[in-house]
Amino acid sequence: MSKFYITTPLYYVNDEPHIGHAYTTILADVISRIKKKQNNDVFFLTGTDEHGQKVQEAAEKRNVSPKEHVDEYVTRFKNTWKKLNIDYDYFIRTTDENHKNRVKEILNNLYKTGEIYFDEYEGLYSVSEERFITEKEMEEGSFREIKKIKEKNYFFKMSKYKSKIIKHIESNENFILPKSRRNEILGFLKNDLNDLCISRPKSRLSWGIELPFNKDYVTYVWFDALINYISAIGYNRDHKKFNYYWPADYHLMAKDILTTHCVYWPTMLMACNITLPKTIFAHGWWLMNDTKMSKSIGNVIKPLELADKYGSDALRYYLMRNMVLGQDSSFTISSFNERYNSDLANDYGNLVNRIFILISKNFNNMIPTKGELDLIDNQLINNVEKSRDLALSNYNKLKIHDGIENSISIFRLINKFLEDKAPWKTIKKDKILAGTTIYLSAEALRIGTILLYPIIPEKSKLILDSIESSHKDKITFGELKENLTIKIIKNIFPRIEN
Ligand code: MSP
Repeated sequence: MSKFYITTPLYYVNDEPHIGHAYTTILADVISRIKKKQNNDVFFLTGTDEHGQKVQEAAEKRNVSPKEHVDEYVTRFKNTWKKLNIDYDYFIRTTDENHKNRVKEILNNLYKTGEIYFDEYEGLYSVSEERFITEKEMEEGSFREIKKIKEKNYFFKMSKYKSKIIKHIESNENFILPKSRRNEILGFLKNDLNDLCISRPKSRLSWGIELPFNKDYVTYVWFDALINYISAIGYNRDHKKFNYYWPADYHLMAKDILTTHCVYWPTMLMACNITLPKTIFAHGWWLMNDTKMSKSIGNVIKPLELADKYGSDALRYYLMRNMVLGQDSSFTISSFNERYNSDLANDYGNLVNRIFILISKNFNNMIPTKGELDLIDNQLINNVEKSRDLALSNYNKLKIHDGIENSISIFRLINKFLEDKAPWKTIKKDKILAGTTIYLSAEALRIGTILLYPIIPEKSKLILDSIESSHKDKITFGELKENLTIKIIKNIFPRIEN
């Protein structure tokens, strides 16, 4: 058994969870479930980023302490993940005592070893992004509320690691994926790399982790938040656990936070003499009318509303099927309805109805026994096995949308097989022949359902339970028990009527 450690970003606790957050988290959940099925010892981490200016301001506005504010707001994320069947192993909050202590230890060590220094600095500061920006960044125009600030601060010697990080990216093909993002970061590193300001004076911001060597300052949110990836798995506390899970196999995120993960984080780790993560994977954005979905633009879709209306599996399915990993994708209600109706209601749901009705009507709710196989039967088995192997190989390559398509194609094969064999006709003359057709259809349905389990854990469990099977079972033909009395389920994916 090998370990597999996967993470999502820590979402800003102030934000209301939207489709964008849901996408990354569902993707991490799907990958975790796929890896578990392949017998990996998975650790799946998610959580919330709870310090900083915006949290402090939001708490002030609501007239509560920042701690009360985050304790209340974190439940929105936790409830959403519960509703969406996110099976994480640990939920970290940057206000956890353990996390704060690890951050302080790291700061202390880096200060002692001279990796952090104190200096006066005059520069451009983006209040909205809570960080110093370069002249070039200001000219590019994507930063708001820019002020010139002159103040004394602590700096991490990030610039010192410039050639080392370039070398690491160049010699590790899978360190940043997809390739286009890797090129973007290598392009960014062609410019000067500044040292990183890692403190904020308390006169400006008090809601943060206090610097262990100067009580008048708190830690810059990113320097604090990135450390979660190691504090959550026992860094400097539970050495055995840490050494087992670290380095992370996948840090998942969207392309918006690439620089912090591909430059700040690895250089921080280098300064601490810690191995770098294996892969940083940046997926695309969910867009609404060609614009990134984001709270500040006000064009967000709330995942809970969709999940309440159509079920969490329907949402999970749409998000996983309609985004090609790495590319942007547009969210529209009409594409949601279309996808649901064509794949889940028609291809899958109707097939489940059909098979279950055939079994209840003709075989007294019992899976029929199978007789001799003919050419068409063997063709079905071959084709289903081909689709299954393709699905597994695509899942392995993280081509989740292709893996789903291969799995759904199994249901299309079964529908076609049933049309060709017409067991509702043959049953009158040859019960064994019809029974064989139905057995093979139910068995192929079982295989397709197990393949879709990581994407739609709730509905697939209902179907598998009804035939006394489980997602852990083998996906080869011949596993389904003959003469088994099944629980008939009806209308598993009711059509969405527009
Ligand atoms: N707090 C930082 C991350 C710190 S990690 C140590 C942060 N938080 S965030 O709430 O803004 O989350 C950003 C992440 O949310 C993206 O990288 C992505 O995973 C997800 N998404 C937010 N909006 C999204 C879309 N519109 N589309 C796809 N994913 C999106 O940045």
